[in-house]
Amino acid sequence: MSEQAAGPTARRVQATWRVNGESVTVAFRPHRTLLEVLREDLGLTGTKHGCELGECGTCTVLLDGEPVLSCLVLGLECEGREIRTVEGLAGPEGPSDLQRAFAELGAAQCGYCTPGFLLVAEHVLAREPRPTRAQLVEELSGNLCRCTGYLKIYEAVERAAQRRAEGAAAEGRHGG
Ligand code: FES
Ligand code: FES
Repeated sequence: MSEQAAGPTARRVQATWRVNGESVTVAFRPHRTLLEVLREDLGLTGTKHGCELGECGTCTVLLDGEPVLSCLVLGLECEGREIRTVEGLAGPEGPSDLQRAFAELGAAQCGYCTPGFLLVAEHVLAREPRPTRAQLVEELSGNLCRCTGYLKIYEAVERAAQRRAEGAAAEGRHGG
């Protein structure tokens, strides 16, 4: 039976999540994945549908700070948890440093894979501020890109890492 055929009376569950820093209450059918609820119930379409088999990484979001494939997580598993999507990366001053670096270096071409890469890269830099190229290749290996050949993506993450390090050093000088 299709979802439409199930009609508006089909059973729904209600859950409260924290999404990009805000508390959100949403009702959805219990079989829905996190990916489906984000896109179709919350309108957060920055997270992309890809294989829906756990193979491409394009649906990656951060769940309690850890990258997960949202096509493999049930919405039911997310009660009370913290979810970060690509919509939560930009701040009041505009795109994040990673987003800027991706744009500058052509690391986002068709852009379909970009939200997933950005979130994994954010997680990598939070744990390891100056990753080596080998670490980046390893950490980003679960995300597929058909356009860039990956090199520009690694370079963009390295540029953002370098700027963060320079920013931290400058702050240290002012603070000292
Ligand atoms: S859509 Fe989730 S891994 Fe491909
Ligand atoms: S930029 Fe097109 S798939 Fe990566």
